[in-house]
Amino acid sequence: MRIGILGSGLMGGKLGTIFARAGHEVVFSYARTEQKLNRLAREANASARAGTPAEAAQSADAILLAVHWSRIDDVLNQAGDLSGKVIVSCSLPMNRDDTELIIGHTWSSSEELAKRLPTARIVSAFNTVPSEVLFEVYESRRRARRPSLVYCGVDRRSKKLAADLIRDVGFDPVDAGPLRIARYTEPFALLVARLAYEGKGGPELAYRFERIVRRR
Ligand SMILES: NC(=O)c1ccc[n+]([C@@H]2O[C@H](COP(=O)([O-])OP(=O)(O)OC[C@H]3O[C@@H](n4cnc5c(N)ncnc54)[C@H](OP(=O)(O)O)[C@@H]3O)[C@@H](O)[C@H]2O)c1
Repeated sequence: MRIGILGSGLMGGKLGTIFARAGHEVVFSYARTEQKLNRLAREANASARAGTPAEAAQSADAILLAVHWSRIDDVLNQAGDLSGKVIVSCSLPMNRDDTELIIGHTWSSSEELAKRLPTARIVSAFNTVPSEVLFEVYESRRRARRPSLVYCGVDRRSKKLAADLIRDVGFDPVDAGPLRIARYTEPFALLVARLAYEGKGGPELAYRFERIVRRR
């Protein structure tokens, strides 16, 4: 296949290299310097080359979108018309310092992209998270004495109640944020990473509180 890489950083650089070495024709584009793109192409193999985002996109069978969320508009403007293209996106909708998701928890970055590119075919992939998101987890892990129990939701009062209940039954509550809608990937990517990094001893259980109603 001909694969256009939009964003040749950690993700685009590595994945483009893997694709090229697997025999695909790869065009690396969008880095701060042309030298970087040329180096990636040279090191990948003979079927890789450097180009502009428009060159990477126009002849591609598939496009890898691998820029920070804050660069999406810029790279898409440079890429030009993407009608009918398969776009595999690994861009998580994070804020500039990569500490929080900025897309609402009732829709995903793929849906946001699909709104901007209604005639393209968007696929969300490589849904892991930047390590900055986990700093808080490392911190709480250091203090953890008991197994933890993950909880999530948007209503502040309900969440306090949930955390108190969890403490009462002998677990450390871990607030997984406003996770509400199971079919969207990004909040889950964050939660799964949190669970993985909790490491030995926890978490033992993960519950999902849809709603807690206080009876009068
Ligand atoms: N890293 C991960 O483990 C990981 C995992 C999953 C998802 N993601 C997501 O994948 C996306 C890309 O992540 P990444 O780690 O590959 O990002 P990155 O290393 O920062 O790569 C982004 C690319 O954009 C280029 N760029 C930035 N500003 C630019 C500008 N003003 N003009 C031209 N090019 C510019 C960078 O150029 P330079 O190469 O010159 O810096 C780089 O090639 C992000 O949305 C991230 O959340 C990352």
